[in-house]
Amino acid sequence: MTALLDWYETVKRPLPWRETRDPYALLVSEVMLQQTQAARVVPYYEAFLGRFPTAEALAAAPLEEVLKAWSGLGYNRRGLALQRAAAHVAAHGWPEDLTELPGVGPYTAAAVGSFAWDRQTAAVDTNVRRVLERTLGRPLTGRALQSAADAAVPPGRAADHNQAMMELGATVCTARVARCGSCPLEAACASAHRVQIAPKRPRKAVRFEDTERYARGRVLRSVLHGEPDGLDPVRRERALAGLRADGLVGAR
Ligand code: ADE
Repeated sequence: MTALLDWYETVKRPLPWRETRDPYALLVSEVMLQQTQAARVVPYYEAFLGRFPTAEALAAAPLEEVLKAWSGLGYNRRGLALQRAAAHVAAHGWPEDLTELPGVGPYTAAAVGSFAWDRQTAAVDTNVRRVLERTLGRPLTGRALQSAADAAVPPGRAADHNQAMMELGATVCTARVARCGSCPLEAACASAHRVQIAPKRPRKAVRFEDTERYARGRVLRSVLHGEPDGLDPVRRERALAGLRADGLVGAR
């Protein structure tokens, strides 16, 4: 299927991780992209690699510095897992199976493996799964999902194909809208112009100050910098327990 690759060449956004084959830089980008949109990731990615240019540098950095560089991206646990992955790489080199690294699942392993080493495995996240399900017109799970995804990879082109599928899922075939008229797979798609999108369930708005994430941030700043956290004891204990479980503060 060259329609997708041809389309990708014309719409490709110049994202900095598309300019490198360094597995460490690619791992940093993919872990950041697990939780945050590409445009927002760019400045964090550049600053992070400026501060920790290699797996060795990240492995040797104090926890507090890593958290500072991660701050604003959210999900600190991912930043910490990334540091543990870097420590593994610094000590033992890259494992053949990247899912042995902390925080690296099959999607991230396939993405980094294809971009860095041209491994011919499809990277399947929720966006790619949606595109495949719509194109093939049936739900896909587990091994059948990975097989269908791998079967769609043009021989030798996994790296560009994976980027192209992500781009399609992010811009054309999104969860909220299917822009079939602009899609390179339109002619081959089982769902073209027939995609039904479930209405968004209204969610009760939750004030950020009432979230667990807010409480953990306050407690962490209190532990690291002595700022008063302003929390009641129950929230403070719950947040501390969560931070301890994530290894962000030491056990008592
Ligand atoms: N989302 C996940 N991985 C990505 C990548 N490599 N480029 C753009 N968006 C992505």
